[in-house]
Amino acid sequence: MTEMASRKQAHLDLCAEEDVEYRGSTLLEEVHLLHHALPERSLAQVDTAVDLFGRRWSAPIYIAGMTGGTERAGEINRALAAAAQKTGLALGLGSQRPMWTDPEVAASYRVRDVAPDVVLFGNLGAVQVRDVGTDAVVELAEAVRADAFCVHLNVAQELVQDEGDRDFRGCLNALAELVDRLAVPVIAKETGCGFSPPTLAALQETGVAWIDASGSGGTSWPGVEALRGSSRQAAMGGVLREWGIPTAASVLYARQAGYRTLASGGIRNAHDVARALALGAEAAGLALPFLRAYTRNGVAGVMSAAEELIEGLRSLCLLSGVARPADLVRAPRVIGPVLERWAAGPVDASAGEGA
Ligand code: FNR
Repeated sequence: MTEMASRKQAHLDLCAEEDVEYRGSTLLEEVHLLHHALPERSLAQVDTAVDLFGRRWSAPIYIAGMTGGTERAGEINRALAAAAQKTGLALGLGSQRPMWTDPEVAASYRVRDVAPDVVLFGNLGAVQVRDVGTDAVVELAEAVRADAFCVHLNVAQELVQDEGDRDFRGCLNALAELVDRLAVPVIAKETGCGFSPPTLAALQETGVAWIDASGSGGTSWPGVEALRGSSRQAAMGGVLREWGIPTAASVLYARQAGYRTLASGGIRNAHDVARALALGAEAAGLALPFLRAYTRNGVAGVMSAAEELIEGLRSLCLLSGVARPADLVRAPRVIGPVLERWAAGPVDASAGEGA
């Protein structure tokens, strides 16, 4: 097994079994959708379907990108894809970096035969997009027949890894070139640390229209990395374990900056999905819960997790007095004080300096 393959394997094992989540919350619990006691609508009248990235989804929920590059990863991708096809959810592939270095592993990303109708997200890190060049990324997207392509940002994880990247220059230019060249939409996707207003402002020049806000509150990648590798890596992982912008704040910042937004990071049930949509996200994604559902019960486990989310979202639409998930953004809500503070934006500590 190559070093990259054994690292991917360790990530899957740690995420399936260990305590890898932020102790701090997504702040989605501060979004209080108001109960409508007289909805005057039947549950069957709630239409959960949405159209995004050129296809119909049964509900605005996706299995966030996780894996690829090994035989076991291929089995997981195909199981997630089969469940996505049967339940009508969208699916993200994990980083396609192994596919670039070793074309032999392309099979572990091949899911279109089992999932011909779902929205499929390709995936590569921003540093790799910079290093392999635009033509190669176009090939990677076409090879899996992606409907959109996620460029993931994971600076905190890289800094924790002993073997991780240390030079993040040139990623904005590479993204801009890719947005220009790729036939499908590019999504700038964090991996659990969220987006700040300055990051979102910097991204404006790339022309990217979509953000996957992936904020803190769910899987902590520094936390995962702290569980493997050297004592230096464990210590650095511990330091950065809680680093990040909570998912609710990250979604709000992306919307305030005018991006079309997907929400992930600590989405754990239908209530979290509804709350993320109320903040303006167009769909919400889960990674860790679907990996764990697969580990426990295979395709059936993933399907029942998906069905529970869809049924829950349908009920929450009815209870909030709206006919479809896309209307949750207009549903009455009360926002708690901590999220309200984040929404107001960063504090300028230099104000009054030199006065
Ligand atoms: C991930 N995630 C991820 N993201 C990405 O863009 N490329 C990738 O290759 C991976 N790999 C990966 C593996 C595993 C095992 C997990 C659990 C997650 C990150 C994922 O898509 C998501 O942004 C975060 O995990 C936050 O969501 P959850 O896990 O809190 O629901």
